Amino acid sequence: MLELIGETKRTHYCGEISKDLLNKEVILMGWVHKRRDLGGLIFIDLRDVKGIVQCVFPPENIESYSKAKDVRNEYVISVKGIVSFRDEKNINKNILSGDIEIIINEMKILNNSEPLPIQLNENVIADEDLRLQYRYLDLRREKLQSILKLRHKMVFAIREFLTKNNFYEIETPILMKSTPEGARDYLVPSRVHPGKFFALPQSPQIYKQLLMIGGMDRYFQIARCFRDEDLRADRQPEFTQLDLEMSFVSQEQIYELMEKLFTYVWKETINVELKTPFPRLTWKEAMEKYGCDKPDLRFGLELQNVTEIFANTSFTVFKNALENNNQIRCIVIPDCASYSRKQTDNLINIAKHQGAQGLAFVKYVNNNFEAGISKFFSEEEKINLQTKLNLNNNDLILFSAERDKLSFKVLAALRNYFGKELNLIDKNNFAFCWVHDFPLFDYNDEENRWEPAHHMFTLPKEEHLPYFDIPEKIGDIQGQLYDMVCNGMELSSGSIRCHRYDIQKKIFNVLGFEEKDLQDKFGYFLDALKYGTPPHGGIAPGIDRMVMILSQAESIRDVIAFPKTLKAFDLMSQAPSIVSDNQLNELHLKLFDI
Ligand code: AMO
Repeated sequence: MLELIGETKRTHYCGEISKDLLNKEVILMGWVHKRRDLGGLIFIDLRDVKGIVQCVFPPENIESYSKAKDVRNEYVISVKGIVSFRDEKNINKNILSGDIEIIINEMKILNNSEPLPIQLNENVIADEDLRLQYRYLDLRREKLQSILKLRHKMVFAIREFLTKNNFYEIETPILMKSTPEGARDYLVPSRVHPGKFFALPQSPQIYKQLLMIGGMDRYFQIARCFRDEDLRADRQPEFTQLDLEMSFVSQEQIYELMEKLFTYVWKETINVELKTPFPRLTWKEAMEKYGCDKPDLRFGLELQNVTEIFANTSFTVFKNALENNNQIRCIVIPDCASYSRKQTDNLINIAKHQGAQGLAFVKYVNNNFEAGISKFFSEEEKINLQTKLNLNNNDLILFSAERDKLSFKVLAALRNYFGKELNLIDKNNFAFCWVHDFPLFDYNDEENRWEPAHHMFTLPKEEHLPYFDIPEKIGDIQGQLYDMVCNGMELSSGSIRCHRYDIQKKIFNVLGFEEKDLQDKFGYFLDALKYGTPPHGGIAPGIDRMVMILSQAESIRDVIAFPKTLKAFDLMSQAPSIVSDNQLNELHLKLFDI
């Protein structure tokens, strides 16, 4: 029989009950986690947001005992009872409240529950689609709850730290003007303005700069961002940034503030002391050493450039590569010379998956080279290679001679593969670094045009300003750009902004904006730059990714209360969904046949 809660008032959380409350009367409310009927006695493990406590229903308390007979797992109940020591034989050393229990004398069944479609047992994790469909049930699992609590603690620490450092938390619009920012916009049709659309912010970039122009000096926001892009394990279409911006700052000051903030957050949330300053790598160094701009520094396996050694190579693939001005790079994998054909084929497939034609390799065994392309090596090349790479017996050496972009991609993929395969990664290590000196522009080979390598509001390095007038130097212009990377994940991105109208216009020119287009899209922003814009800069760490690293979660979906699938779908509410013709008419929209 269900009862209403009435005036019953909870006195404690289940997870708070300890020996300190011995012989005290408590009122608890929560879910029936497990129920055991031992004939004479009924035991219920009662669960709430703070933990689990054992409740005992002796038959002499006739009413509560008979109610306890009726309840099933996940029923919602309130109980009143006395905190007592457990019998020696019932002590459970695995839980905090394992030496006590509550002897119940009153109970209300507040709600019942059908058998759950998914198990809450951490050892029997259901299929992810089913868990996403019943996300509100999956959220009852201790693991997900602990991540959400950690997330809260982290955001709280961030707010605390930034408030103490003179930042103001300011909200910016969710309905904004569509602005090209890298990914596709999510659009919102306007009912009031037929044929016109708002866009959801990919980030509050322009607004935070306008806040600096507005004189707010230091801004931050826990900002929701929306991007219609291909999803991955660390990407969601709707995610959260700690967006921040500061006036009158240098790159160094931003590094210093961020290192202090991260040190504070790591200490407050997981009680880990981070070592600062974080190491710094230029973009070029990161690419040459690790093949990517978000290197995992928890392990070595650095890339090596062996182009010079093969200047007179007889191996056609290398020869052709050198004729095309490609570099020859390699990566040395220790103790893998015994790899079978099947295993090396697998490596070739990894390389091909990245777009390579194949993968050249040799093995170093008994102080000599064998297998793979070893037959093409001259004695001189062998000696030089041995010396340069400082080889040990049983090393496997993998080569790439593709053009830079592809070569880096292939070797970085192989490096990351072996980092995991050879168990080189210490999961308890947080290897932070800064990557800086990025190129300002990236050439899009397919569309034959320059794109912003990061975003278009970045101040170029002062010494590179003259390059804007030399077409062949555009690719050499570096921006005052920086990324913060941790354990191979890009955690934050930022830059010193272009606060001057004349320089911002030069950037837009390189990107090929027509004057009219420019005025249409950015007129208001360019105008704002004319009215005393202070020098400013900022950064935006991804909140979800920070929680992923703090909680060692494998997937971004585990750190968001209601995430979307990899296909940007909400399995629980089945969104996006079809809307009525009426709604479409109101928005002046007509759909093509799909
Ligand atoms: P950027 O686009 O590099 O920079 O984003 C900054 C950080 O946001 C996180 N992030 C994401 N997290 C989850 N899912 C996604 N789809 C996703 N995309 C980005 C990452 C990333 O480092 N306005 C600039 C910041 C600035 O210059 O101040 C910006 O948005 O952690």
